[in-house]
Amino acid sequence: MIPIEYYFDDKIFVIENEKIFQSNWQPLCFKGDLPNNNDFAIFRVGGVEVVIQNFQGLIKAFSNVCPHRFSCLQSGRMGNRVLQCPYHRLQFNHFGESINKPLGEDYPYTQLKLYEWHIDVCGQLVFVSFNKPSKSLKEYLGACFVYIENITNSIGEEIFVEEQLIEANWKLVIQNTIEFDHAFSVHPKTFAELVQKPLEILDLEAPSPLIHYRTRCKNLSREERFTQKIFKQFCNTTYFSDYPCYEHFYLFPLLTVGHCNGPVSFFRYTPISPSQTLLQIRVWSPKAVVENEDYAKLTLKLFPSIVDFIKKLSLEDKEICEAVFRGVMSAPKDMKMIFSKGDFLIEKFQESYLSFMK
Ligand code: FES
Ligand SMILES: [Fe+2]
Repeated sequence: MIPIEYYFDDKIFVIENEKIFQSNWQPLCFKGDLPNNNDFAIFRVGGVEVVIQNFQGLIKAFSNVCPHRFSCLQSGRMGNRVLQCPYHRLQFNHFGESINKPLGEDYPYTQLKLYEWHIDVCGQLVFVSFNKPSKSLKEYLGACFVYIENITNSIGEEIFVEEQLIEANWKLVIQNTIEFDHAFSVHPKTFAELVQKPLEILDLEAPSPLIHYRTRCKNLSREERFTQKIFKQFCNTTYFSDYPCYEHFYLFPLLTVGHCNGPVSFFRYTPISPSQTLLQIRVWSPKAVVENEDYAKLTLKLFPSIVDFIKKLSLEDKEICEAVFRGVMSAPKDMKMIFSKGDFLIEKFQESYLSFMK
């Protein structure tokens, strides 16, 4: 299993960046985030910056580095601007070639080329890879391609977005998202209020790189049953289950998706260093096919309480992950984690992780 120093060693973090984050498909954003010509967004993937830019409807991804003297091309999280270096004003087209001559007529412009990333889309979710990936996106996602396609095509409006800096190694954070035993101890007033005790794990599948399962919710109150009925009536909800449950989906290495037959939350993690992980939470409503006053009234009341629940839950997880990280840092080097029955998905994660690190 993963040796303890892997949770804080700088050298391991460098290898992870290279072998895991830069060499596999990484989900970054939604197609709709860049609707207009020259819309761009910057992300950090595997320790380096990538700029995703809309060139008249074509979405391309390049290292955010000018090949002249290496200034970053774009700045800020997102914006609308041609792809132009702010230093000496070279401008680039969708092939990553310079299209003006600010460095004089004699300069060898044809030698300048941006480093282009591999890019592909599943449903509405945009994926990139820094190195040439060994599999196409469809092959990499396997059975979960259809799942991601369905769920991202069934969401409507973004109802919440927030970032959280977690002072813990990314692997501890991910392991926490896929283990069951803490549901009642860490979340007694949030998650535990929602699901049946003991947890009943249904429809579990875990072919690498995917982990997917559902857990049955408590019996719904009359009001909750009414809400479900309204959602079914007004929304295009292909991802809803026939029974009340929380559905969880983890895509190795850094994405989790969850819902309770309502809005969907996407948690995307970015390892900043061995000891820091940035979490981006985005919550989307189910896509409404009919909107009327009843639906508007319901969502006005319901969405803020769902968002509040997600916020509380994520802060409880942040706190426990930070406590585990401090513990790991203080553990004697030869100490080993001893897993319990509820930890079998962590073992699964660790197997995937170690196979990528070979
Ligand atoms: S560094 Fe970009 S144009 Fe000079
Ligand atoms: Fe949790």
